[in-house]
Amino acid sequence: MKLDREIKKICCIGAGYVGGPSMAVIAHKCPEIIVNVVDINEERIASWNDPDIKALPIYEPGLAEIIAECRGKNLYFSTEIKKQISQADMIFISVNTPTKTRGIGAGKASDLKWVEASARQISEYASGFTIVVEKSTLPVRTAQTIKQILQSSNKQSKNKKFSVLSNPEFLAEGTAINDLNYPDRVLIGGEDQESIKKLIDIYLHWVPRKKIITTNLWSSELSKLLSNAFLAQRISSINSVTALCETTGADIKEVAEAIKSDHRIGKDFLDPGPGFGGSCFKKDILNLVYICDHYGLKQVSSYWEKVVDINNWQSERILNVIIEKLFGTVSDKTISILGFAFKANTNDTRESPAIKICRGLLEEGCKLKIYDPKVSSQQIEKELCMPLTEKKWSFANSIIDSVKGSDAIVVITEWQEFKDMDWESLSKKMRSPSWLFDTRSICDIEEAKNHGFNIWRIGADLNLMN
Ligand code: NAD
Ligand code: UGA
Repeated sequence: MKLDREIKKICCIGAGYVGGPSMAVIAHKCPEIIVNVVDINEERIASWNDPDIKALPIYEPGLAEIIAECRGKNLYFSTEIKKQISQADMIFISVNTPTKTRGIGAGKASDLKWVEASARQISEYASGFTIVVEKSTLPVRTAQTIKQILQSSNKQSKNKKFSVLSNPEFLAEGTAINDLNYPDRVLIGGEDQESIKKLIDIYLHWVPRKKIITTNLWSSELSKLLSNAFLAQRISSINSVTALCETTGADIKEVAEAIKSDHRIGKDFLDPGPGFGGSCFKKDILNLVYICDHYGLKQVSSYWEKVVDINNWQSERILNVIIEKLFGTVSDKTISILGFAFKANTNDTRESPAIKICRGLLEEGCKLKIYDPKVSSQQIEKELCMPLTEKKWSFANSIIDSVKGSDAIVVITEWQEFKDMDWESLSKKMRSPSWLFDTRSICDIEEAKNHGFNIWRIGADLNLMN
C-alpha cells in the first residue's frame, strides 16, 4: 500500500487524440513523473514509438517536438496494460466513448463499454492506493459506475484503495498543444480533497491556481457536456442564418462581424461553415439529449436536439446547392474536393461534413478528386466506404492535381493553403464553365471571379448583394 500517496508514476489508458497529447504535455511539464500511455491497439502504439517522428498516429502542431523530447525519458507508449496499471499511483481513463449503435439508447447514449473495461482492468491490476481520473467525456453520474466496479475489487483485496476524480479535457484538435499549455481552465471534480490536491499539484507545474476549478463529481461531468453543447449551439445558430442571408442579400460575413462586436456575445465560434464535425460535438449533445429524456425532461432534450438537426440540415443543404447550381445534375461531372479533415490542422476525419457531401455527390454519379494536406487515401476510402479501385474518386497530391479537368471546386476544410490559391493557374486547368463553392467563406472571391469562376459562397448571394 502506497501510504505516502506521492504521484511518481502515471498511467493513461487510451493513446488517442486526448491520451497522447495530454500525457505528452504532463510528461513535458513534470519531468520528475514517469508517464506511461497504454492502449490495446498495437498498431497505434507502434506508431507512437516510431523512430520517424513524422509517423506519429496523430497530426497536431507542436506535438512531434514534445514527443521527441520526452519519449524514452519519462514518457512511454506500450501495450503493457497490466504492468503499467499495477505500478501507477494515478490512472487516467482516456478511452473512446462513441454513440451507441445498438441496443437501448442506440443513436444517442454514449457507449461506455470501453470505460467499463478500463475500470475492470484497473480494479483487477491496481495495487495499493490509486487515484482514478476520468479524462474521457462521460455522461453525468458515470463516476458512480466506475466507483462500483472499483469497490467490487476492494472486497477481494484489502490492499487496494481507490479515489475517483473527474478531470474532463477541453483541448480542441489542431490547437491541442497550445490548449493544453495555456488552458482557459482545468476542471477537477471529486470528493476526496487529498486526491484533488494531488491532481492540482500536477497542473500547478504550469497552470496558474486561479485557472483550476474544483467542483463535485457530477458538476464536472456535466460541465464538459454543456461546454461542447454551448460551442456547437453557436455554430448551429450562425449556420441557421446562412440560408436566410443567401435569400435576402445580407452577407453572413458582415452579419457575423456585427454580432461579434458585442462583447457579451464574443468573437469565437461564429464562423459559418458546412456544419460542425469531429468526434465529440454531435456525440456529446446526443448524450445530453438522452440523459434529459431519461429524466423526463422532454422540452430540454428537444431544445438541444435542434442543434444537431440544424447541423445535419446544413451539410445536406450545401449538397443540394452544389447539384442545383451545376444545372441540376452532377452525373459524369468531375468535382475537386479541397479538404477532407473535419477542421484545419488535424488529420482527423471523424464526422467530417466532407463525408456526407462526398457520399451524396458520388451517389449522384459524380467523379471526385479529393485533396487534403494531412488525410491519407486509406482514411478517405474508409470514410467513404468506397475503395479507390472502383475509380469513382481519386486521391490528389496537390490542389493543382485535384482541379485538372474538373468542373467545380468545393472547399470544405479551412486549410491555410486554400485561402491563398492562385486562381489564374487553377482556371486554366479546369473545364468551363467552372464553379467555386466556398463552404467556409475563406477564398478570395474577387480574384476567383476575375478569372472567370462562377461563385457560391456560404451565407451570401453575390447577385443579390449588389
Ligand atoms: P480515440 O479513439 O482517439 O482514442 C481512444 C483510445 O482508447 C483508442 O486508441 C483505443 O484503442 C483505446 N482503448 C479503448 N479501450 C481501451 C482499453 N480497455 N484499454 C486500453 N486502451 C483502450 O479517442 P479520443 O479522441 O482520444 O477521445 C477519448 C475521450 O476524450 C472521449 O471520451 C472523447 O469524447 C474525449 N475528448 C476528445 C477530444 C478530442 O479532441 N478528440 C477532446 C476532449 C475530450
Ligand atoms: C471541440 C471543443 O472545441 C473542445 O473544447 C472539446 O474539448 C472537444 O470538442 C471535444 O470534446 O472533443 P474539436 O471538435 O477538436 O474541439 O474542434 P473545434 O475547434 O471545436 O471544431 C469543431 C467543429 O466546429 C469543426 O468542424 C469546425 O470546423 C467547426 N467550427 C468551429 C465551425 O464551423 N465554426 C466555428 O466558428 C468554429
